[in-house]
Amino acid sequence: MNVHADSLTDKEQQIEQLLARMTLEEKAGQLTQLVVQKSPTGPVVANGGEDVIRHSGVGSLLGASGVQDTRRLQQIAVEESRLHIPLLFTEDVLHGFRTIFPVPLAEAAAWDPDLTQRTTRAAAVEASASGIHLTYAPMIDIARDPRWGRVVEGSGEDPFLGSALAVARVRGFHGKGPPEVSTLLSTAKHFVGYGAPEGGRDYNTSDLSERTLLETYLPPFRAAVQAGVDAVMPAYNELDGIPMHANGPLLREKLREQWGFRGLIVSDFNSVRELMLHGVAATPTEAVKVAFGATVDIDMVSGLYAQELPALVRNGQLAQSTLDSAVRRVLEAKQRLGLFDDPYRYSDAAREKANLLTPQSRALAREAAQKSMVLLKNEKALLPLHKDLPKLLVVGALADDQRSTLGSWPGDGRAKESISVLQGIKGAVSSATQVVYIQGASPDDLDLSEIDKAHQAALDADVVIAVLGERANMSGEARSRSSLGLPGAQDALLSRLLETGKPVVVILMNGRPLAIPHLAEQVPAILESWFLGSEMGNAVADILFGDVNPSGKLPVTFPRAVGQVPIYYSQKHTGRQSNKDAAYIDQSVTPLYPFGHGLSYTTFTYDPPTLSATQITATETLTVQVTVHNSGQREGEEIVQLYLHDNVASVTRPVRALRGFTRVRLKPGEARTLDFVLDQDDFALLDRYFLRRVEPGTFTVFVGGSSATDNQASFEITNTARVKGLGSAIPRMLRALANKTDE
Ligand code: BGC
Repeated sequence: MNVHADSLTDKEQQIEQLLARMTLEEKAGQLTQLVVQKSPTGPVVANGGEDVIRHSGVGSLLGASGVQDTRRLQQIAVEESRLHIPLLFTEDVLHGFRTIFPVPLAEAAAWDPDLTQRTTRAAAVEASASGIHLTYAPMIDIARDPRWGRVVEGSGEDPFLGSALAVARVRGFHGKGPPEVSTLLSTAKHFVGYGAPEGGRDYNTSDLSERTLLETYLPPFRAAVQAGVDAVMPAYNELDGIPMHANGPLLREKLREQWGFRGLIVSDFNSVRELMLHGVAATPTEAVKVAFGATVDIDMVSGLYAQELPALVRNGQLAQSTLDSAVRRVLEAKQRLGLFDDPYRYSDAAREKANLLTPQSRALAREAAQKSMVLLKNEKALLPLHKDLPKLLVVGALADDQRSTLGSWPGDGRAKESISVLQGIKGAVSSATQVVYIQGASPDDLDLSEIDKAHQAALDADVVIAVLGERANMSGEARSRSSLGLPGAQDALLSRLLETGKPVVVILMNGRPLAIPHLAEQVPAILESWFLGSEMGNAVADILFGDVNPSGKLPVTFPRAVGQVPIYYSQKHTGRQSNKDAAYIDQSVTPLYPFGHGLSYTTFTYDPPTLSATQITATETLTVQVTVHNSGQREGEEIVQLYLHDNVASVTRPVRALRGFTRVRLKPGEARTLDFVLDQDDFALLDRYFLRRVEPGTFTVFVGGSSATDNQASFEITNTARVKGLGSAIPRMLRALANKTDE
């Protein structure tokens, strides 16, 4: 960049002046991030201790939090280092900080961007009150393979829902934005294709066609960029032969040049060094050249930028101006947060004391948990239960597992501050109800010693509540599974319980879709409750006993068997006349529970959709109107979903693709008419030359309560039109509320 001092703003001048005074080592230090471990005597900086800060060898830290620790570290940076440049404190705040909200996959089941924006805001308030400036969230990887453990961290299988929630999270972290002290800088991760590893194995190669990448995996990232995300983290995987940390075509050309992203690119943990393990760099020097060449600004943990960058500039292999551009981006982030004016502004003891785990954030956690549960099955209206049943038997190790309620990224959440399912049930029933708890079995081992005891107790109970699934540490990073059933001895326990003939309710706790056809067949009531956070037990009880009507819908398809994976609703037609020809000889092709599925204690019925026109031109909009009725006995919320199919096109199209959704609350007997507006962003496809265009022909629109709805209407587009530019990746429903940066 050619810098003309007189054309610069004061802020720009401040940065240029600083840059002019920095040594190459200090510049490389700004691009270096190290880990901090907590210890009883205070924070410990790995790789060099506090002296690294003193010598300006580090610009940001991962893992330091709390006002006391962050103040202490910041003090070294601003008082004892040569140029007094403040540190940036970074942390993974995925679904809450001290108050823990539902894991992202669960909260996606609420299909409620407003709710997600509010929970993210609450997390930002807490984390920023604990000294944190930047978070490694939102995690917006589309995931269609439940073997992959990190499916729990994202919003499921669909790019439209995923984009809506990505935008909600970026806005939630941002809040009013700087100088507001609760603004948390956000990071969209992991760019890109991380959610499609071969075999579902974490970190493994992803092999995606350009079309799949453009249509499915990239849209949430573009939506996040349009919504003003501050940073992007490349993924661990390789794509098309290029590890993402070396992927100039996608990082530099697509993200920065085509999409106009001006923020930070922060490497994933040790990923610069891992370029050697990927086999695209023989030496640390080569690894740094490749990553830096792909415009990765910050090296998380490997230490190689600090080690290699100064020499690369000195010997002319790297232009000083390229180094300066990356350093400038780091300094600008610190400046944006106001850290040059007051480096301690995020480390304020009074704010920390007032803002953690407040009654308001707990109430929000409960609301989010209530909305995130999905009632998968409810035969003969077994649920809700009466609160005054004489005897309830609760079984399953997970019922009593406070830690697992906190999910895969518990932040600073404390297990003892979280309500287990057992605690929630005990707190909700009448004083006359006896709640008996027997562990019975656990997901961890095959110990059957308590199964007979559980069987006996079930014979004596009015209803059995079995809390089954996975421990929180069975999904998440490096937690892939090759099977998708109930781990440990839980199936054996369930069989013994079902033998009693007593009504059995299963509450599932899990971080991924499970393949549980035997449950779907034999258990009369199944409530999917994922990992719901600090208020999990209370929220489960709210649903179980009918104080709250369940309303969540699956953001991801549940398979019948691992062999069906990957299975997702927006598949393509095959060339065969009937699905039977393209089926398995030993398994149905249909999912166990489709994307968008979820029951309520009431029933909703839909009138056929009506369209504003049956013929439109390619540049006109179409309004789809649908009336939904609460045809049952209770008030409830329904998530109305709209899907579109382009019936004949120059390239094959998904059998249906989500293009709109909304939550409606209806009293018994009440009806509401909803309008969905579709335009060329919805109709367009990428043709075989990857040009965006709307093509003429018939389209089918589906509106209903799940992706399997048959409620449909057709219309025709009469001409073709090229759609210029990239269009908006932000769903229309969120555009009206856009920040200035959105369009
Ligand atoms: C994960 C990232 C995370 C980072 C820092 C990595 O292993 O892949 O998602 O942000 O660690 O904790």
